[in-house]
Amino acid sequence: MTTAVIGSGGIGSAIARKLASGGESLRLASADNKSARMLAAQIGRAAVVAADNRDALRGADAVVFALRFTVLEGVIDEIADSLADKAVIVPSNPVTLDAQGHVSRLLPKEQSSGEVVAGWLPAGSRLAMAFGTMSADRFESSSHRSPEEAVLFYATDDDRAGEEVERLIRTAGFEPVKVGGIEASSRLEVGGDLHDLVVGREEALSLLGGA
Ligand SMILES: NC(=O)c1ccc[n+]([C@@H]2O[C@H](COP(=O)([O-])OP(=O)(O)OC[C@H]3O[C@@H](n4cnc5c(N)ncnc54)[C@H](OP(=O)(O)O)[C@@H]3O)[C@@H](O)[C@H]2O)c1
Repeated sequence: MTTAVIGSGGIGSAIARKLASGGESLRLASADNKSARMLAAQIGRAAVVAADNRDALRGADAVVFALRFTVLEGVIDEIADSLADKAVIVPSNPVTLDAQGHVSRLLPKEQSSGEVVAGWLPAGSRLAMAFGTMSADRFESSSHRSPEEAVLFYATDDDRAGEEVERLIRTAGFEPVKVGGIEASSRLEVGGDLHDLVVGREEALSLLGGA
């Protein structure tokens, strides 16, 4: 199976490395494609560099938008007409960093990133919010945890997107657990009660039950 990864920065490169090591074929793109080329060279045969964001989608079953929240809407607009048959997976957190490194939220407290991203996508898009629930370092070091794989939580309203994101989460070396519909993505974001947790399935389910 093939996944497009648009954005090869901190989280995009970590996701790409883990998917490739699980056997996924990748089509990579980034703003000027320099980082995508470096990432493809590091990954080897499983990754090809696309000509641009639209070209990354050619033949892909899913697309991961590994982009900062502030550029996500523009990139979605650019390629919206090519998303119809893909699972759309978004790890972006609705935060920004100032020059001093302080994190601030870009959305009102009551609004989840998943609801906002769903509004940017064409009607009928198969969106899942996933792969942004841990820091990139923690994500890479927690993959294929032994003896029990660590959980990656996801949120979606779409059953087919759910199936595809579960496949990709397993490919990356994690156990998938659905937290709920897209509005539940606020639990996964920076500041959410499930953000940056490394837990097994049983503990994950008890955390969900206790919400
Ligand atoms: N880093 C983490 O630990 C982490 C963990 C969980 C979630 N997240 C979330 O994931 C999102 C991305 O974070 P990040 O740390 O990976 O950001 P980042 O390191 O700044 O990487 C952003 C990537 O987006 C690419 N990009 C920018 N504009 C583009 C465009 N128009 N078309 C295609 N690609 C474009 C950049 O391309 P170039 O490389 O060519 O400049 C870069 O590869 C954020 O919302 C963040 O909150 C990050």
